[in-house]
Amino acid sequence: MSSLPVQRAVPRHRICVMPGDGIGIEVMEAALPVLDALGLPCELVFADIGWECWRREGNTVPQETWDRIASCDAALLGAITSKPPREAEAALPLSLRGTGHAFVSPVIQLRQRLGLYANIRPVTDVLGEGRYRFTVIRENTEGLYAGLDFARIPAEFEPVLSGREASGAPWRRAGPDDATMSVRLQTRHGLSRLFRFAFEYARSQGFDRVTLADKPNVLRHSGAFAREILESVAADYPDISHHIDNVDAVALWMVRRPERFGVIVAENMFGDILSDLGAGVMGGLGLAPSANIGDAGAYFEPVHGSAPAYAGLNKANPSAMFLTIAMLLEHLGYRREAAAIQSAVAETARSACRTYDLGGNASTREMAAAIIARSADKAAGRLVSGFALNEEK
Ligand code: NAI
Ligand code: MG
Repeated sequence: MSSLPVQRAVPRHRICVMPGDGIGIEVMEAALPVLDALGLPCELVFADIGWECWRREGNTVPQETWDRIASCDAALLGAITSKPPREAEAALPLSLRGTGHAFVSPVIQLRQRLGLYANIRPVTDVLGEGRYRFTVIRENTEGLYAGLDFARIPAEFEPVLSGREASGAPWRRAGPDDATMSVRLQTRHGLSRLFRFAFEYARSQGFDRVTLADKPNVLRHSGAFAREILESVAADYPDISHHIDNVDAVALWMVRRPERFGVIVAENMFGDILSDLGAGVMGGLGLAPSANIGDAGAYFEPVHGSAPAYAGLNKANPSAMFLTIAMLLEHLGYRREAAAIQSAVAETARSACRTYDLGGNASTREMAAAIIARSADKAAGRLVSGFALNEEK
């Protein structure tokens, strides 16, 4: 393994490291040494999160973890295990059962409590020749997942439905108990900050277009509202073009011509679907990184979950975790090191030393060691690769 002439600097950044559950722990353990190999002045602050915390104390994010997150510049999460209410209740110690402890996904808690409204999913041609590079930015706090989801029609909405020709007819047939209703909530504040974030991100990443994936021909009024806000924000970014495409067409073109996109921005549910499609376009969950960013905080995590069937087997692909660390480093200003990791992952994913999901038989630790060695070489300028080590990238 190659080694850098590491100069131990005084830590300038504190990173809260939360390995979580299942393969989250393994990919974290395998990938973290890259920070040392690159000689980065980061201090790691470890914190507990996830299923084991729930089993122990009926709380997936202990107060101590919130305190540690607050004391850090950014947080890095492995993955967590979530289970439905009945299984969650059964996993609690006897003394806590039936005491009103509710399982709330730690990922949701982090997003809500830290106000992380933008979910960022870069999609790059890791396995190919760098043909495409785009990013899906999903709104995290409102839209169709705002929590306005009703198991029957609420009484206060009945007059609204009765007065409408199109939606009124099926509802009158069904009656309030045989119908459900979910509301897509969009606010000017929520959309303005999301769109501004998308344009700023596009500019910082060298993208020249922002596409809003929506459905304005069907959701006519909320679509027009989003359009008006998009246009007013776009006026501040004359160097970046803006477009509004139907979300279904965007899905088609992400697969057929991914190179035509720069930044794709979408409300919560459309963005949720498109961002997983993005992981598919890249070649699978083992490769896809993400970040959740707000005005006062950020956390970074691979898109995949804890994959219980693979936990403890040393088989999971660590690439998504490395690319997630690269996003975190870029966020903290270490662009050169981030680019070194990205290009090391791309080369390793195409080498013989790759995990099962990429068609190889390397273990998590073997692939991680190969990526770390390449990252260190690239950061030190010892390897020239197909991926340019461009300071401005
Ligand atoms: P998952 O992402 O954990 O795994 C789905 C499948 O994808 C795995 O069985 C495996 O075949 C493949 N896979 C995932 N990551 C991989 C990797 N690094 N290398 C190779 N193959 C990989 O999703 P699943 O099975 O739906 O959920 C398992 C648990 O994870 C659940 O408890 C779920 O709630 C949780 N979860 C947590 C997330 C998070 O931490 N943000 C996100 C998604 C699920
Ligand atoms: Mg999803």
